[in-house]
Amino acid sequence: PDEIEALRATHISEYPDFPLPGVLFRDIIPLLRDAAAFRTVIRYWTSLLPDDIEYVVGTEARGFVVGAPLAYELGAGFVPVRKAGKLPGDPASLSYDLEYGSAVVQIPEGSLPAGARTLIVDDLLATGGTAAATLELTRRFDVEVVGVSFLLELEGLHGRERLPDVPLTRVWSLPN
Ligand code: PRP
Ligand code: MG
Repeated sequence: PDEIEALRATHISEYPDFPLPGVLFRDIIPLLRDAAAFRTVIRYWTSLLPDDIEYVVGTEARGFVVGAPLAYELGAGFVPVRKAGKLPGDPASLSYDLEYGSAVVQIPEGSLPAGARTLIVDDLLATGGTAAATLELTRRFDVEVVGVSFLLELEGLHGRERLPDVPLTRVWSLPN
C-alpha cells in the first residue's frame, strides 16, 4: 500500500485549467506507459475486488484502458459502454447531464445475461455523472451489480453520493 500510494504521486500528472479554466486535470498516461507500475497497480486493484465477478463494464475511453486489464486479471468478460454512434445493432441508450449540456452513452445489445455478477469500472470518479449513467444502463439487463470501482476518487466532488446503493472501492483518493 505504501508503494501504491507512492505511485500515485509519481505516475499521475496534474494539469491546471484543462480542459476548462478552474479544472485540475489528472492524467493517467504516465502510469499506463510504465510497464512495471501499470502491472503493479492493476494487480493491487484486482486484490481489492471480489473474485467471482463475471463481467466488467468500462466506459469509453479511459474506462476501457483500465477495465480491460482488470477483467483479464479477474477472469471476467469485458463489456464496453460507448459514446453514442459507435455501436452496431440495437444498443440501449441513456442521456445524462454534464456540467454544460448532455451526452449519450450506449451499451451493446444482449451484452449481459440477467443475474450476472457485474462490476463497473472507470479511471476517475469526479461528479459521478458518468458512473451513474453507466450504472443505470447496466441495470437494464437485470444483472447483479456487485460494485463500482475507480482508480482515483476526487472526494470533494461528492460523486459517491450519486452511487448510494452499490459498494464502492477505489485505489486512490484526493480531496479534489
Ligand atoms: C472522464 C473520466 C471519467 C469521467 C469522470 O471521462 O475518464 O469517465 O470523466 O467524471 P464525472 O465523474 O464527473 O462523470 P471523459 O468523459 O472526460 O472522457 P474519456 O474517458 O473519454 O477521456
Ligand atoms: Mg472517461
